[in-house]
Amino acid sequence: MNMPSLVLASLLFCAGPVFAQAKVAAKPAGPQLSAAALEVIESRCALCHGKEGESASAVYPRLAAQHPDYMVKQLKDFRDGRRKSDAMNEMTKGLTDEVIVELAGWFSSRAPAARRGGDPDLAAVGRYIYAKGNPYSGVAACASCHGDKGHGTHLLPRLAGQHPAYIETQLKEFVKRERNNDNAVMHSIASKLTELEVHAVAVFLGGLQ
Ligand code: HEC
Ligand code: HEC
Repeated sequence: MNMPSLVLASLLFCAGPVFAQAKVAAKPAGPQLSAAALEVIESRCALCHGKEGESASAVYPRLAAQHPDYMVKQLKDFRDGRRKSDAMNEMTKGLTDEVIVELAGWFSSRAPAARRGGDPDLAAVGRYIYAKGNPYSGVAACASCHGDKGHGTHLLPRLAGQHPAYIETQLKEFVKRERNNDNAVMHSIASKLTELEVHAVAVFLGGLQ
């Protein structure tokens, strides 16, 4: 081994653990959890949504940075059967209101991981729909409710960085009224979207940070 690569190798050797440590330290601490809530997160929620709210599969929504009040409402609706989902009706069975508040607080405190954008042409169509709606078919601009950056408000879900496949499924469920716990607004909006618009807006949102 020549001199420069020896120096490089030893630098890399030293730098590795230092970087790994810095990464762990950068994680927000998050709220203190009761033993009961921690148990539920680790033995149930983490399987599909990840402990940090970054679900690995696109069919499970990302929960990191999602609004706590919105999640509390959805979790109670799943538990009480108002929002139908085979997985979530089962997973929320028997959860107390107090534990639900803790679960929502935990996932909302998690920082979303970096996002990678999809097809730029589709995302450009999606950006237009998101910011301006479709004035020719009477679709309202998504940004008027979900915010310019898709960050939502306390009762309006964050859409930025959500898995496109999950967004598409929800839009279709709003149209068919399969998601009907609270769909008055989204039913009328989603019903006016074309296949292309649904796909484009989902791809655009998936790439937002
Ligand atoms: C077996 C996989 C699975 C497990 C385990 C699971 N979930 Fe889910 N979760 C889903 C799926 C699938 C959906 C989408 C539901 C739908 O629209 O049909 C979902 C949706 C949600 C939503 C709604 C998100 C939104 O944007 O509207 C929240 C909140 C949520 N889950 C929280 C939790 C919590 C908290 C736990 C632990 C108690 C949990 N999940 C356990 C699969 C799972
Ligand atoms: C007039 C306000 C309004 C506008 C405009 C609007 N939304 Fe929504 N959206 C809502 C509300 C309210 C909810 C929460 C519904 C619930 O609680 O069940 C929602 C929920 C959603 C969800 C479900 C998110 C999740 O995490 O499960 C998606 C996806 C969505 N909207 C996409 C869109 C898109 C795409 C557009 C533009 C084409 C749009 N919305 C325009 C009010 C709006």
